[in-house]
Amino acid sequence: MLPSTAQLYGRLADALSNSWRVQARPEQREPSGDRWSTWLILAGRGWGKTRTGCEWIHGHAVAGTAHRIALVAPTAADVRDVLIEGPSGFLQIASNSTRPTWEPSKHRLTWPNGVEASAFSAEEPERLRGPQHDLAYCDELATWKHPEALDMLNFGLRVGIRPRKLITTTPKPSKLLKAIIADPTTVITRGATTDNAKNLAPGFMDGILRKYGGTRLGRQEIDGELLLDVPNALWQLDWLDRDRVAKAPELERVVVAIDPAVTSGEDADETGIIVAGVVGDHAYVLEDSSGKYQPHEWAQRAIGLYRKHRADRVVAEVNNGGEMVASTIRMIDPNVSFKAVHASRGKVIRAEPCSALYEQSRVHHVGTFARLEDQLCSFTSDFNRGAAGYSPDRLDALVWALSELMVMAVEPVLPYFGWQTTSGTGWNGAFHTGGNNAGTPESAVYSSSPEGFRNMLYDMEEIERQRRRGW
Ligand SMILES: Nc1ncnc2c1ncn2[C@@H]1O[C@H](COP(=O)(O)OP(=O)(O)O)[C@@H](O)[C@H]1O
Ligand SMILES: [Mg+2]
Repeated sequence: MLPSTAQLYGRLADALSNSWRVQARPEQREPSGDRWSTWLILAGRGWGKTRTGCEWIHGHAVAGTAHRIALVAPTAADVRDVLIEGPSGFLQIASNSTRPTWEPSKHRLTWPNGVEASAFSAEEPERLRGPQHDLAYCDELATWKHPEALDMLNFGLRVGIRPRKLITTTPKPSKLLKAIIADPTTVITRGATTDNAKNLAPGFMDGILRKYGGTRLGRQEIDGELLLDVPNALWQLDWLDRDRVAKAPELERVVVAIDPAVTSGEDADETGIIVAGVVGDHAYVLEDSSGKYQPHEWAQRAIGLYRKHRADRVVAEVNNGGEMVASTIRMIDPNVSFKAVHASRGKVIRAEPCSALYEQSRVHHVGTFARLEDQLCSFTSDFNRGAAGYSPDRLDALVWALSELMVMAVEPVLPYFGWQTTSGTGWNGAFHTGGNNAGTPESAVYSSSPEGFRNMLYDMEEIERQRRRGW
């Protein structure tokens, strides 16, 4: 039986409401004009970048306005899981009658009309050498390991009347991205995650806001802003991204470092709590658990982390109330191996050697620590906490952790005068002062014996007074 007119209208309405032409927001549609050769979309996570890219390619393939298409994703897994099989990928977005077939062994999509697309991983730039294309889509360019993959693609993008490419990415301030932005044949679309809020899975928006809300990094990940490096900052975001890992290797030593806030309450500083470990000459930042805490809260948290990570030591800055810090820790667990560190040099001087370790690719963040990374990438040699409106407590704790794991392991090169005792009572302490060994914070080491803890309650000044008395 033939469908009735009403049924036909119904199907038409269905088809239309599912069609990208109807669903796409205006900024997700191909830019007008014929002067551009690169369409660059810089937008936050979940804006609809991948969907826009796949729909753009699919539209041209179905219309037959492109014939030899290239698709490039950061890795082979991204090609399969995101571009082909993902919720925004080709197999999902196409209707039954227009759906291309995917041949994984050939890395090839073929539409019913014969149009073909080859898929590439940006990890294998060599595969892009040779083949020629008339349309290309590049997803998440900012995370490509080999930027030269884009050169290879560009080189082969030369068939047809008007070869073009679309690049979509959460922006990161790379040289490559800056060059694309500066290119006069690029048209740029920008957007924020919130533009697509109504199409995102429940929880996605909350999750991303919890992780990045209110941070500088959030301006990149949510708002799609290209964050330029803060001039003279001791850390650069691209170092952090370059050396970031998903998982830490087996570690030789792990420490929990604390920079305790002196006061508590609404306007109090945060207590920085960072867990980091070392293997060989590489350090791994495992956790940032900093926050506004009452003293017993940060001590509990630090000791919880000490156990969770089977850490070797808790390191805490004792500038503000040495006794308080030591006894707070001891109250919760008298058996924790604890080391009090004392900052006599300025923050910048302490931070510099750590920033150098990052520059040399020797420190890896296991995952992303938005708030810590904000503090690192905004910290300049003339940092002024009054002007900044905050104290970089996460950075401080990180510096103590790395100094304990890395910098302090370096033997002093220049002579220092110091005071050291090893008594028969079961504890030993070393107190370095005035050392010219940049990066070695003044410190006192205590064993975890009861005597050690009793002695720990001497603060640095007391030790120094005794030293002066010639004790
Ligand atoms: N205009 C739109 N209408 C309906 N759903 C959309 C639209 N744009 C994007 N989406 C959906 O939003 C989700 C996130 O899109 P995606 O392209 O994966 O985001 P991104 O690549 O920017 O992280 C996907 O489920 C996608 O299909
Ligand atoms: Mg995407």
